[in-house]
Amino acid sequence: MQQLLADCFAFLAASPSPYHAVHTAAGLLRAAGFVHLEESAPWALVPGGAYYVTRNGSSLIAWRMPGGKLGGWRGAAAHSDSPAFRLTCTKKEDAYYARAEVEPYGGMRLCSWLDRPLTLAGRILVRSKEGVVSRLIAPERDLLCIPSLCVHFDRDGAKGAPLDPKIDLQPIFGAAGEDLSAVLAGEGGVCPRADILDYDLTLAVRQAPCTVGLENEFFMAPRIDDLACAFGTLTGFLAGTPCETRGDVWCLFDNEEVGSGTRQGALGSFLPDVLARAEAALGLGAEQRIAARANSLFLSADNAHATHPNHPETSDAAHPVVLNGGVVIKYNASQKYTTSGLTGALIAEICRRAEVPVQAFYNRPDTPGGSTLGNLLARQVSVPMADIGLPQLAMHSAVETAGCADIGHLACAAAKFYSSVLTQKTDGSWEIA
Ligand code: CO
Repeated sequence: MQQLLADCFAFLAASPSPYHAVHTAAGLLRAAGFVHLEESAPWALVPGGAYYVTRNGSSLIAWRMPGGKLGGWRGAAAHSDSPAFRLTCTKKEDAYYARAEVEPYGGMRLCSWLDRPLTLAGRILVRSKEGVVSRLIAPERDLLCIPSLCVHFDRDGAKGAPLDPKIDLQPIFGAAGEDLSAVLAGEGGVCPRADILDYDLTLAVRQAPCTVGLENEFFMAPRIDDLACAFGTLTGFLAGTPCETRGDVWCLFDNEEVGSGTRQGALGSFLPDVLARAEAALGLGAEQRIAARANSLFLSADNAHATHPNHPETSDAAHPVVLNGGVVIKYNASQKYTTSGLTGALIAEICRRAEVPVQAFYNRPDTPGGSTLGNLLARQVSVPMADIGLPQLAMHSAVETAGCADIGHLACAAAKFYSSVLTQKTDGSWEIA
């Protein structure tokens, strides 16, 4: 368990942006023998083969072909992005400080970005002899900060007045006259600086994941939502038992935090495109393809809100969710979560067989709650699905809190899922072998 937690911490620390999360996952997949394919090239897929493909550098799909005839897919999806400030301008005129400009991405807990060391992470687009190339950037030093206005000058802020991103949350990084593009050129080894044609960069917290608590039972880290689920499901995917009649899929999608409606997001064509190519390579006709998809099960894995110790009234009292209490199965009457009684029962049974505890999440009946990947993905690929997640606190804060044991819970549950053969015998009845 200690090794698994250390591996999870390494995954989190190595993934300060969606581009880095994809890069980190790709490294683990290559080490496990997965072959990297390009979406823009022809594929020669073989039975039993293991592959991965990326889109926009910020989303990734990995899969194992069945050894024989495809009877259905087993899949899980998590997201690579987290709320953060996106860099819009590397230099802003100012008499006293070197300043950059940023805009919020996703539902940020704005105050959590004040008064902490920050760096930049993402990719720069560099002119090359052939055209344009992407280069990952994540300086291993803290470059920027967003100082808060002290309480002596900010009586309204002390009373809880909201922060304005345009005014209150713009970073500084040095003395007047400096330009961040010089730092980017240095970090990216780009000369001349003008060869940096554009960038996709956000501010990022470098703070290393650390344990907290009398027994080190909790951990704190940036980007736990959703990289902890990404790590747990990927670990289970790699530990799963390949099956002659089942194809296995693992997805990491960008842009969940802004509604998934992008080419590389869960609402894009990425997953249906990959499945269609794999099914074509297996020689499936439309009839077999539709039957196989009806006999598939997907997990939408995104973190769940634990009941807050200081504000238990914000959660559904009948369904408390606690850190280290096990995998959370998420339900919502409005179908923001894909879990039905049936798919919830299947996941609960798989977890029981894996000796992993489960908890149920419902919103307070008078609270709409959030949304996630699964119900959007289901519009593209309408397979049976359930929403699960790791319990966590302080979701969307710059540094979040979760339970150490839950990493093992999710990895074990996912490994069991990717080792079970689920067959929908009749509509509403499944066999689990
Ligand atoms: Co999330």
